[in-house]
Amino acid sequence: MKLEDKTIIVTGGGRGIGRYIAKRLGEEGANIVVTARTEEYIEKVSKEINEEGGRVVPIRGDVTKEDDVKKVVNAAIEKFGKIDVLVNNAGAGIRKYLWETTAEEFEEIMNVNVKGVFFYMKHVIPEMEKHGGLIINISSGAGKEGIPTLSVYSASKFAVIGLTEAAAREVGRNVKIIALCPASVNIGMFKRFFPEERAVLEPEEVAEKVADICIHPGKYRSGDSIEIY
Ligand SMILES: NC(=O)c1ccc[n+]([C@@H]2O[C@H](COP(=O)([O-])OP(=O)(O)OC[C@H]3O[C@@H](n4cnc5c(N)ncnc54)[C@H](OP(=O)(O)O)[C@@H]3O)[C@@H](O)[C@H]2O)c1
Repeated sequence: MKLEDKTIIVTGGGRGIGRYIAKRLGEEGANIVVTARTEEYIEKVSKEINEEGGRVVPIRGDVTKEDDVKKVVNAAIEKFGKIDVLVNNAGAGIRKYLWETTAEEFEEIMNVNVKGVFFYMKHVIPEMEKHGGLIINISSGAGKEGIPTLSVYSASKFAVIGLTEAAAREVGRNVKIIALCPASVNIGMFKRFFPEERAVLEPEEVAEKVADICIHPGKYRSGDSIEIY
């Protein structure tokens, strides 16, 4: 158990890749706050981890609502005393050509993938500046290279890298901020968007990389975007 006494928030932790991340970090003994909009999923994943000896609390919240984000951050501090790691995993996307995408779809993707990451960083960084911390923003391979039919999603994931690089230069040396850019993962949105294609990664591999960054942060440089494929 290499993360005992660490408190970690995993957004979008109720299903998809986030569920694997929460479970993997739970195995290392971390205190985990699992948050997403769907109560049923976050309760289920918390129960699964706690049955194996973990310490997880589910807190419902929408990353696009600043009041919800404040509520989750405050509840994590109240429950566990501090926040050591934030994994900004919650995400949304659609598969459409740019000219078919509606303004509402554009806003939804940007709100979840960019504003949500912004809100969490905004409210967690001042807390982390007090004692140190680590933020892992889940971008994507599509955040390094524009992918046809994922133009708005790609733009949102490029933006996550921009937030990561700029904020990494704004914070003190005791706060590390990293973007993780996985290639296609055999779960969640990839399976919904590309049911006919084979993914490059399994969700366990992404969770393992997140765990490695949490356990060995010294191996990674703040501001970097790390591709996995
Ligand atoms: N799958 C891939 O191939 C792949 C590859 C590279 C990067 N990624 C990135 O990895 C992350 C997870 O992807 P996934 O494939 O696991 O997606 P997913 O299965 O669609 O899961 C998305 C997660 O985000 C949560 N979420 C969505 N909107 C939210 C909101 N407004 N507030 C709070 N939570 C919200 C969802 O929970 P609720 O709906 O219950 O809120 C869910 O837990 C995303 O950031 C995605 O862009 C995925």
